[in-house]
Amino acid sequence: MNIILTGDRPTGRLHLGHYVGSLRRRVELQNSGTFDEIYIMIADAQALTDNAENPEKIRENVLEVALDNLSAGLDPEKTALFIQSGVPALTELCFYYTNLVTVARLQRNPTVKTEIKMRGFESSIPVGFFNYPISQAADITAFDATVVPVGEDQLPMLEQCVEIVHKFNAVYGETLVMPKALLPETEAGMRLPGLDGSAKMSKSLGNCIYLTDLPEEVRKKVMSMFTDPNHLRVEDPGTVEGNPVFTYLDAFSKTEHFARFLPEYENLDAMKAHYRRGGLGDVKVKRFLINVLEDMLTPIRERRRYWESRLPEVISYLEESTKIASRKADQTVRRVRAAMRINYFEGDAFLKEAIERYPTA
Ligand code: TRP
Repeated sequence: MNIILTGDRPTGRLHLGHYVGSLRRRVELQNSGTFDEIYIMIADAQALTDNAENPEKIRENVLEVALDNLSAGLDPEKTALFIQSGVPALTELCFYYTNLVTVARLQRNPTVKTEIKMRGFESSIPVGFFNYPISQAADITAFDATVVPVGEDQLPMLEQCVEIVHKFNAVYGETLVMPKALLPETEAGMRLPGLDGSAKMSKSLGNCIYLTDLPEEVRKKVMSMFTDPNHLRVEDPGTVEGNPVFTYLDAFSKTEHFARFLPEYENLDAMKAHYRRGGLGDVKVKRFLINVLEDMLTPIRERRRYWESRLPEVISYLEESTKIASRKADQTVRRVRAAMRINYFEGDAFLKEAIERYPTA
């Protein structure tokens, strides 16, 4: 079986960084026809681990993230898009897995370390937050996921999951399926820089283009983008490396865009060569980038309008998917309980042993 599980925390609308790093990929994987089951999880329970006092924010973004996924091309016929908190079996798996992980091991998880700093949790870490790598291992194993498409930042979570699977199978016998991370193929997919040139597009830095941005917002944002600070006059030679406008073109432009929007260049390499030589102005590059982004965003906006006019259908899709996901995770829990021999009332093994041990009965 080839099974995908991945997910997003619903803490805000999704932006181009999410699109290039994960949404586009998951839609390609979905349409490749090589997977037997595909689960995309809206990780509301995980989002609550660092938003405990702000549940409304998470609740409001559940539907936004669902619509973002659908507008990127997620197909309800092929993919189950479900809400994490609606799958109670995940908490049970997590409870058993916590016994297989040490506090020291969690403290060494680099993603957790960075996030603790970012959130100012140094002196008082919420237990649920500290525990979320274990809960993420439950998410992955509950679905027998073989492939987990994620960004680079999630690799420590996958490692932790792999260790839990090893340990569980070693202690209780071959039970859990070993997952594999699937990383983005391109550098821009790994980490799309922000409009301001900072390393990452991120909501908290306010340097994002959202999938829901209108053409006028996209235009303004691109025009204000950071480029090569030494490229002051059009004639000056410019630098392409680390220049976010070119990183975005690496991520989003196709050769056919040149024929359609800027036929004086055959392809991106030709355009980059001209920029490096000098004589190509930032405004021209940015205008081209706007065309490229609009070409990509237009069908996304259209699909979004389609689904926004069918909200009851979206909600019942989420509900149906959550039921499907819950049934699947329940099967895994049953397998796990059997492996751990805590499935007391299944079959008569418990009774037989009891009788043997208490021959007077
Ligand atoms: N931690 C992921 C993120 O912040 C979301 C997530 C939760 C996830 N459970 C998962 C991703 C399981 C992959 C597999 O984006």
